[in-house]
Amino acid sequence: ETTDVVIIGAGPAGLTLANLLQRNGIACIVLEARDRSHVEDRQRAGVLDHYGAEIFTAAGLSDAIIADAPREKMLELRYEGEPHFFAGPAHTGGRAGVIVPQQLLVRRLLATFVEAGGDLRFGVSDIRLRDLSQPRITYAGGELTASYIAGCDGFHGISRRSIPPDSLTTYEFDHGIGWYTVLAESPPPWHALMGISHHGFAAQFARGPQASRFYLQYEPGGADPRDWPDDYTWDQLRLRLGDPNLPAGPITDREIVEMRSFVAEPMSHQNLFLAGDAAHIITPMGAKGMNLALFDADVLARALTAALRDGDESGLPAYSDVCLRRTWDYQEFSRWFTEMVHDAGAQSDPFRRRLARARFDRLFTNPAAAAHFADMMAGTPHPT
Ligand code: APR
Repeated sequence: ETTDVVIIGAGPAGLTLANLLQRNGIACIVLEARDRSHVEDRQRAGVLDHYGAEIFTAAGLSDAIIADAPREKMLELRYEGEPHFFAGPAHTGGRAGVIVPQQLLVRRLLATFVEAGGDLRFGVSDIRLRDLSQPRITYAGGELTASYIAGCDGFHGISRRSIPPDSLTTYEFDHGIGWYTVLAESPPPWHALMGISHHGFAAQFARGPQASRFYLQYEPGGADPRDWPDDYTWDQLRLRLGDPNLPAGPITDREIVEMRSFVAEPMSHQNLFLAGDAAHIITPMGAKGMNLALFDADVLARALTAALRDGDESGLPAYSDVCLRRTWDYQEFSRWFTEMVHDAGAQSDPFRRRLARARFDRLFTNPAAAAHFADMMAGTPHPT
């Protein structure tokens, strides 16, 4: 069997790429290791930045993917319990992110692709990339040849590992911070809420009309926070969010979130192109992980379409550099944001604690700093 592009992995990166190629009339086959319900139920990211959302608008997919999504208008930052409101769109001429939980995005992308006749195969095991220059892919019970492979199979996938190690440079950074997240049946906040305090960082985000997702910083190397008694979790949230009346509710999910960064360079080798988490991992501060995955998919879709439809291959060698520039820009932003909200904790060096406060104050006293922060939150424009 042969096709133009084989896409490995049906996460946000692979499904976005599949839809964009389909819209452009490029043949592709998506191979996904897990089953459909696993892919559809995975809860992770929740915000499409302005330019992430524009990818779908430009492709004529906004009705299918983002039509009814609420806009991200306000962020509340509570510093030792004192509220500060940051209205991002007021600083960006109205550009704002939209709130689209990953499960919803993935379900809609999947349905749109399959309903339009897309070839998406679930439960495909033992995928191997046999040849990257004249792509040949084998899997349990099948074999495909293609002009190009898109490695969209996440950090633990096989695509990046199919590149000879001496052809890749990898950068890894451990932020030295633990993050614990719980999903609870507790009324959502009016706005995205972050608490900065000497007790440590905490955040609360709406997850539908009845539920909230909370995040709590913890000291890595100590007791596993998933074993914390619920009362302790609620006490910590009340202290850090500065709200002694925060209503408790049943906790339905407990997870550890990794706070580490990773970048592999370059993002391509011969006719294999890596996109999304297969090439880079970013900390959740700033909510850029999913947006980077979509940005890669958009740049790759343009380059592959030009090559396969118009015979213009110039976008393919440029793909890696274009994506890496945005990746490092967002990595820097995420690290900057991470420091600002975590260095206030009692475990921090006192000098860094003061710097974190200065960084925070600048956002509310210096209009240029506010505009820059809002601009990064909304996302930076696409290169044309
Ligand atoms: N073969 C086939 N599929 C695989 C394999 C494999 N060997 N290994 C992994 N996969 C599949 C996974 O099951 C998953 O569905 O690849 C997909 C990868 O999806 P993600 O890990 O979500 O990665 P990506 O699409 O790059 O999206 C990453 O989205 O969740 C947000 O912020 C988050 O940064 C993250 C971004």
